[in-house]
Amino acid sequence: MPATRTQLSQAYPIGSAIDADGRLQLGGCDAVELAREFGTPAYIVAEDDLRARAQTFVEAFRARTKDFDVLFASKAFPCTAIYRVLAEEGIACDVASGGELALALRGGFDPARIYLHGNAKSVDELRFARESGVGHIVIDNADEIERLEAVVGDGPAQPVLLRVTPGVRGETNDKISTGQADSKFGFSMVDAPAAIARVQDSPQLDLVGLHMHIGSQILELDPFRRAIEAIAPLGDFGTYNLGGGLGVAYTSAQEPPRIADYVAAKVDTVDRVLGPGKRILDEPGRALVANSTVTLYTVQSVKRNVSTWVAVDGGMSDNLRPMLYGSVYEAQIADRFGGGTRSRLTGKHCESGDVIVRDVELADPRVGDVIVTPATGAYGHAMANNYNGVPRPPVIMVAHGDARVVVRRETYDDLTARDVD
Ligand SMILES: Cc1ncc(COP(=O)(O)O)c(C=O)c1O
Repeated sequence: MPATRTQLSQAYPIGSAIDADGRLQLGGCDAVELAREFGTPAYIVAEDDLRARAQTFVEAFRARTKDFDVLFASKAFPCTAIYRVLAEEGIACDVASGGELALALRGGFDPARIYLHGNAKSVDELRFARESGVGHIVIDNADEIERLEAVVGDGPAQPVLLRVTPGVRGETNDKISTGQADSKFGFSMVDAPAAIARVQDSPQLDLVGLHMHIGSQILELDPFRRAIEAIAPLGDFGTYNLGGGLGVAYTSAQEPPRIADYVAAKVDTVDRVLGPGKRILDEPGRALVANSTVTLYTVQSVKRNVSTWVAVDGGMSDNLRPMLYGSVYEAQIADRFGGGTRSRLTGKHCESGDVIVRDVELADPRVGDVIVTPATGAYGHAMANNYNGVPRPPVIMVAHGDARVVVRRETYDDLTARDVD
């Protein structure tokens, strides 16, 4: 088979390969065999990829600064086994709800190294965080200040960071842009000084620093630098949490910055603008987990009208991103990489918009073929749903030729498990 047909794009997990028979191998396991054994759709996570990216982040920071922590932005892949692997790699964790906090604790994260986010935290969530010993709470708004003070009461002061919006936009979809002034997240640059003063005066709260997150899937480094420059006038703090946002390759055409370059851009800008010796926190979600995972589907029908519609057994219930953001993916037949048939890879749901890949070259797609879409680790399982009563897929972890189910497939009984009559 010619090299161009067998080359894997960087969207695939590290260590993936096409074998001599033209079959996709993931973590040493044959993709078509995985589909046969575990059914489809299924998320396949390459454990070594997850670990390698966590280590790359940590090493990149260690090479440039002494005082840092890398936080897994766990909204990207809130699954106990993923928390467990990343906790084992020694990184910290950010959670954005009580549910994610429960998962992170179950996954083995030290509560002292958990950061609680959210623009609408309830009293119950704040109490849960306090009772669990969550290290830091990231304050998003004025209402939350009073709510948290009441929860702390006479207890020891709660270490907090204050989330600000630097008024800087990265080049990304509006729905995942969060750093602009008109944002539902954080305090604007206008409101931040009063909020900082208010929290500094509070006996219940211990303000250790500022937080910002300008958005997600950002493929250039300059917005990260500009955002750090923008918050400098807010004062001198010991800790800066710079959020996540590093983009990843969903297709071979996308070229994200290297993790080391992203880290260097942030750390060097903090040193230059905010001064040396700051504690720097970073919260990658997508860049840690997206490329660790592929989704396997089985083709159920091939219909030719104006286009060729290749319909698979999943869709917007396991990958909402194409519908939410118009996100672009690539796809292949797992044992017949190549092209020749321009296709629309479509899901099984009752929406015309349920199209996983709008234009994809497949090699003569047929019913029964196993299709692979790479880079589904971030916000795939996280946003999975039961539209049309479709049970959510399992999560299968692969490493060194072994495969294990870490989340089982949902059953029809699960669909009625919450019914009360
Ligand atoms: C506060 C915060 N931190 C970190 C992240 C992770 O972003 P990404 O997955 O782009 O790295 C997000 C994503 O929405 C976020 O809201």
